[in-house]
Amino acid sequence: MILAKHAGFCFGVRRAVETARRSAPAVTLGPVIHNPRVVSELEAAGVKSVASPEEIPEGARVVVRSHGVGRETLDALKARNVEILDATCPFVRRIHEISLSAERNGIALIVVGEERHPEVEGIRGWTSGESYAVATEEAALALPGMESALVVSQTTFIEERFDRITEAIAKRVKHPEIIRTICPATKESQEEAVRLAREVDCMIVVGGRESSNSRKLYELVREVLTRSHFIESAEELGGIALDAVDRVGITAGASTPDCIIKEVVARMNDIEKQVTPSEEHVEQAETS
Ligand code: F3S
Repeated sequence: MILAKHAGFCFGVRRAVETARRSAPAVTLGPVIHNPRVVSELEAAGVKSVASPEEIPEGARVVVRSHGVGRETLDALKARNVEILDATCPFVRRIHEISLSAERNGIALIVVGEERHPEVEGIRGWTSGESYAVATEEAALALPGMESALVVSQTTFIEERFDRITEAIAKRVKHPEIIRTICPATKESQEEAVRLAREVDCMIVVGGRESSNSRKLYELVREVLTRSHFIESAEELGGIALDAVDRVGITAGASTPDCIIKEVVARMNDIEKQVTPSEEHVEQAETS
């Protein structure tokens, strides 16, 4: 069993979860991360998730999650007289600044990413000018013809897809200024997962079903190794046939807490003892 070094919480998510934990009682706009276990633990500790600024009581403490929010939402929070603890990831904030510069220069902003993802909504919310979100080459080719545009990506986008989509964008925009904003943590974890998938017989990706970066990790490793599985918890390992497998790789999305990764590793160790008694095929899992 080989556990990826970059499996689990990235710096931005860890910071947001810790800020929320420290700030209880508090509210977050939307779940602080897409992981049901962490969300219910936070709720038990007094951190409640609400869907809109209107639901936040006057005087409450509000944690802005790592995805960030748009300018209008931030203004709506300020207008409600609440204490704001901004845990927007610095990599996301940098994209907000790019979005603002698109507004200042009067040019369109194109975000390569999932239109309904809160990070993408937040990024587009920092320009009052034209903005678009495209997640496929088809969507890029359907953009209106433009003279110029600033092009950024959702921080967790897959680089190779970003490159293909920006080529399509260049067919619709005469002078695109392409700024690479995939975050280093995402890049490292995706590259490592693909390397690992090439070395093993079976890959396990651990992440919340609603977690976009975990799903992308899974899509990436599945392109390399069809015998890949996406699980949310250690219990789901029971449904995976591992008897003819020598080497298993494990990775996890940036919103997967250490405790769930440890449970998966422990359960895998139990399975290994049952199905692969020979030690020569087994590498000790590295725990981070
Ligand atoms: Fe930030 Fe990258 Fe994590 S943008 S929240 S460090 S995935």
